[in-house]
Amino acid sequence: MEIPRLHPDTIEQVKQRTDIVDVVSEHVVLRKQGKDFVGLCPFHDDKSPSFSVSPGKQFYYCFSCGAGGNAIKFLMELGKRPFSDVVLSLAQRYDVPVQTLKPEERQEFQRQVSLREQLYELVAIASKFYEHALYQSAGSAALEYLEARGLSRATMQQFQLGYAPGGWETLTGYLVEQKKYPVELVERAGLIVPRKTGDGYYDRFRDRLMIPIHDLQGRVIGFGGRTLTDEQPKYLNSPDTELFDKGKLLFALDKARAAIAKQDQAVIVEGYFDVIALHHAGITNVVASMGTALSSAQVRQLLRYTESKRIILNFDADKAGTKAAERAVGEVESLAYRGDIQLRVLNIPDGKDPDDFLKTHPASEYQTLLDEAPLWLDWQMEQAIAAKDLRQSDQFQAAVQAIVKLLGNLPNATLRTHYIHRYAERLSQGDSHLMLRLEEDLRMQVRGERWHGRSQKWQTKSDRNLLEEAEIQLLRLYLYAPEHQAAIVAALEERDLEFSLSHHRFLWRQIQEVEETPIIHPSTPPAPLLSLIQDRCTDYPAEMMQLYALFQLDEKTKRDILRADLTIRAATAVMERIMCEKRCRHFQQLLAEIDDSSTPELGQYYWQKIHTEKRRIADLDRERQVSFEDLVQAPWVGEVQ
Ligand code: UTP
Ligand code: MN
Repeated sequence: MEIPRLHPDTIEQVKQRTDIVDVVSEHVVLRKQGKDFVGLCPFHDDKSPSFSVSPGKQFYYCFSCGAGGNAIKFLMELGKRPFSDVVLSLAQRYDVPVQTLKPEERQEFQRQVSLREQLYELVAIASKFYEHALYQSAGSAALEYLEARGLSRATMQQFQLGYAPGGWETLTGYLVEQKKYPVELVERAGLIVPRKTGDGYYDRFRDRLMIPIHDLQGRVIGFGGRTLTDEQPKYLNSPDTELFDKGKLLFALDKARAAIAKQDQAVIVEGYFDVIALHHAGITNVVASMGTALSSAQVRQLLRYTESKRIILNFDADKAGTKAAERAVGEVESLAYRGDIQLRVLNIPDGKDPDDFLKTHPASEYQTLLDEAPLWLDWQMEQAIAAKDLRQSDQFQAAVQAIVKLLGNLPNATLRTHYIHRYAERLSQGDSHLMLRLEEDLRMQVRGERWHGRSQKWQTKSDRNLLEEAEIQLLRLYLYAPEHQAAIVAALEERDLEFSLSHHRFLWRQIQEVEETPIIHPSTPPAPLLSLIQDRCTDYPAEMMQLYALFQLDEKTKRDILRADLTIRAATAVMERIMCEKRCRHFQQLLAEIDDSSTPELGQYYWQKIHTEKRRIADLDRERQVSFEDLVQAPWVGEVQ
């Protein structure tokens, strides 16, 4: 499809109306920090929040990878979408009238906009139709059903509940024959289904209680239809349409968001009726995931409304519900481990869902359950030992394994100690001897787990390869081209660098020792450095193995020797850049860990350090780009502007 050329006025207006915090926070969990917001950068594998968004400047910037720009750039980069596509969707979102340069193109776009508008209209009319039917004689059974479930008229009206009459073509007849809507449009709205025989359509929802699903603006975009009998499925939902995307939506967010903001906490339940019953009972900060696996996109949407990022999952306590809760926790686990969200998990006693619970308990009791819901980690730890017979050694071992794995991810050392102590106590079941040994054992295992995890995450593979490559280049040059040794030492000193990989450090120490050893027999000419080194290394066969590649004079090294100056500059620049990044990450980590009690100067100090490193990295990249492109193929070339 040809990209419509947008009128510059439209682009300008979109820029003016778009709010960067609004746009970014749909994709990144942001936390307020001073005037700005910070979060994890979506453009690289960010370990600590290096991504900042300034509402004042309407600009984002990542201190770690250097990504930056306005809201349009953000969406373009994130979704790999073309400029005009992003501008158009923003125009729609912020109600900016779109003007294109060519009339044909304007027509095409307006056709698309008007298609969506027609769909909204159509779905709204269908919703009204269903709602009306609920209060007619045909809907009396449905109405009685709702009353039997304890709902008031006010709640039914608030949720715009309705009834889809039986019969195959009730809605079809109303919308197509009576209201003259094109049948294709009604199909696109997900309301009717073409007959397999190819002639005509029938109603998707028949003899069902209709629950409209609204978007954030409160427009109906789809339906869940509950059967009033034992028919399967229990709930039939609208298919995905241009308006309706079940995986991204949360049921009743439009009705819950004000309460979520006010109470600074959101509750997620599984079912439509759980939401309706809770709202009916006056607990209104509740949404539902509609039975699908809760996605991180859904959680992020919620997080926009709770400043302290407090979320409570209240899934059914049956097996399926527990599985769903575990999956949901897994989806947002990394946020939770870092403390970016305060996640709690509530399982109602006796395996009830919130709707069941409210039938026999007052709302205040539900509220108490919410207030006392365990933190997700406690909940997961309990899951790990629940239903295990700890006297059986294999089950005991499985419980320990699960606990070690959970705690291995926990970055906060104090918390780790706390949990290790508590679970050593739990698992040892009153045996104080066992308890002490177990505590020590857990500590060791968790430490092992943490190291394992960290060494995998510590550096990206390409960073390590680059570093190794650069160090090898320098060491080879040093061994084979004595005339450049002084320059290598000078470059390392100037940039304040040392070799980082342990076997290279080992080699460097050997070199220094050889050079410092006085020559005992001045009559024999000194053997070249290389063979002296090789002699020494026979005492260290393990290190030798790793250094083996270094002692080969390959073609590349011959070339490197010919342009030694460049080689030295390029290799040391690579090493320095990696060091800068490491320091930068370190300060970012410190910055993220600052708590309220520390002085503001400390934060300032870290920021400055980060900035210094970033500037140096940018300098190094510029230096690299002008001269050594062909020498070291670094993956970041071209990524940084
Ligand atoms: P539940 O089976 O727990 O339903 O499914 P519920 O909400 O407790 O329903 P009631 O109380 O029997 O009326 C939880 C959610 O999963 C989705 C619906 O969103 C439902 O609310 N679901 C369930 C479906 O989409 N289709 C189904 O067939 C069943
Ligand atoms: Mn239920």
